Amino acid sequence: MVRFVPALLALSATAWAAQSCSASSQCPEDKPCCSQYGECGTGAFCLGGCDVQGSFSTDSCAPMPICESKSYTWDNLDNAALNTKYLGNASATDWTYSGFPKVTDGNLELHMPKNTVGTLFANNHYIWYGKVSAKIKSSRGAGVVTAFILLSDVKDEIDYEFVGADLTAVQTNYYWQGVPDLDGDGMQERHANQETGHNSANATVNGEDTYSDWHTYEIDWQPEQLQWIVDGKVTRTLTKAQTYNETSKTPSRMQLSLWPAGQASNAEGTIAWAGGEINWDSEDIKKQGYYSATFGQIDVQCYDPPSGVSTSGNDSYIYTSDTGLQSDVAITGNSTVLGSMGATGLDPTLGAHSSSASSTSSSNDTMPTGGSGGAGAMGSGHSSSSSSSSSSSSSSDDSGSSTTSAAASASTTAGTNSAPGQERVLQGSLFAVLVAVVALVMQ
Ligand SMILES: *[C@@H]1O[C@H](CO)[C@@H](O)[C@H](O)[C@H]1NC(C)=O
Ligand SMILES: *[C@@H]1O[C@H](CO)[C@@H](O)[C@H](O)[C@H]1NC(C)=O
Ligand SMILES: *[C@@H]1O[C@H](CO)[C@@H](O)[C@H](O)[C@H]1NC(C)=O
Ligand SMILES: *[C@@H]1O[C@H](CO)[C@@H](O)[C@H](O)[C@H]1NC(C)=O
Ligand SMILES: *[C@@H]1O[C@H](CO)[C@@H](O)[C@H](O)[C@H]1NC(C)=O
Ligand SMILES: *[C@@H]1O[C@H](CO)[C@@H](O)[C@H](O)[C@H]1NC(C)=O
Repeated sequence: MVRFVPALLALSATAWAAQSCSASSQCPEDKPCCSQYGECGTGAFCLGGCDVQGSFSTDSCAPMPICESKSYTWDNLDNAALNTKYLGNASATDWTYSGFPKVTDGNLELHMPKNTVGTLFANNHYIWYGKVSAKIKSSRGAGVVTAFILLSDVKDEIDYEFVGADLTAVQTNYYWQGVPDLDGDGMQERHANQETGHNSANATVNGEDTYSDWHTYEIDWQPEQLQWIVDGKVTRTLTKAQTYNETSKTPSRMQLSLWPAGQASNAEGTIAWAGGEINWDSEDIKKQGYYSATFGQIDVQCYDPPSGVSTSGNDSYIYTSDTGLQSDVAITGNSTVLGSMGATGLDPTLGAHSSSASSTSSSNDTMPTGGSGGAGAMGSGHSSSSSSSSSSSSSSDDSGSSTTSAAASASTTAGTNSAPGQERVLQGSLFAVLVAVVALVMQ
């Protein structure tokens, strides 16, 4: 299910006249990266979610960190960074987030406090075929959606979505190069090519329910076949032929999220899909102050990349053209790391060691340094095309209080320097300010 969050998109246009981008309207060279939410920029815009089709050129987005087989358990959040801090080094930081994640009793909780857009927790390593597995207790309540997905930068998507109004089943969906919302109802049109017209199916979850009980949800993603497996039982299999070759084909990131699909400002269709408008005075909100989804151990097992892929290193995937097809992805030794929030795939080391970059990006904690590795942070998780990721454009827990100082530091810095590179570093930081502003307005 795909949805837009019009309110956020409109808001971002007002708060900061970001240039929008799409496959038919690419970004300009000075802000070459098209974020997951269709806006041009540098830095975080060029990391996770950067859309090669809307970007200035195929090498504008930073190379994508290669798959790493790994198990994640939750003793702390040391391997996670706020979306305003991550600069592409997935070896140092496995996850990027926005919103309100918390580790409790060895589990990762994603929270959605009253009137917020929830939490997005995105893995920074891309997977190009593999199996992912997560122990999950979903959140609950009308309009509350918990998601566990694989999403590529050209919006191929495979997901599990838990609609809080129905705790007996989980939805399984896939999208191929996510189709935009054509009729304005906030929902993705069915892909004309699909055999059945259904990219969505419900998987019944045996046992009590998805909220009270732990269940293990797996996605086994192979070039020829895609399977959703719940508690070890295959609940859905799609072969390449059944989908007119339109199962996901491009390197994808695993994302966990909790988001308010039933937020009153969302499109009617989205709210209906989510089981109705969200109740911000529910039992969970009254009792604990937030909705919450819980994730236990998460495992990623990488499979071999497609045979015949062009390989010149071990570090990253890159697109070699903007078709967004499997055949146009290569494996390289190119670095995935950006020097600053002003850097891009075209000039990755910009600001890396200059004093200006460090003063902008690291000496002041209140100074956000850019957007998200997560889902672009700009919109709400669901860009026009992808469905479930999440909406989190909220910034961290401290977003409310840091908004003012962030804006203030941005303007202070603006007044004191004029180097061209610096200007780009600044634009990157404005992105973060915007994220903070959006979070504030949402509340
Ligand atoms: C990868 O690195 C090569 C050699 O440094 C460079 O020519 C190429 O543009 C890079 N590609 C991308 C997508 O960054
Ligand atoms: C990325 O992080 C790792 C681990 O902290 C570190 O060894 C490596 O030098 C970093 N790479 C870059 C390019 O900063
Ligand atoms: C999944 O179940 C919900 C009700 O819980 C229903 O509204 C929806 O149509 C079902 N989806 C499919 C694809 O069967
Ligand atoms: C699917 O891919 C195969 C092999 O690339 C091709 O022969 C076939 O025509 C494709 N089918 C569709 C419906 O596009
Ligand atoms: C990939 O890394 C392995 C060791 O980790 C190395 O032996 C191999 O040569 C590398 N391959 C390429 C193409 O760089
Ligand atoms: C924050 O930035 C200001 C202005 O650049 C600087 O004077 C101040 O020392 C910085 N604070 C810290 C803690 O680095």
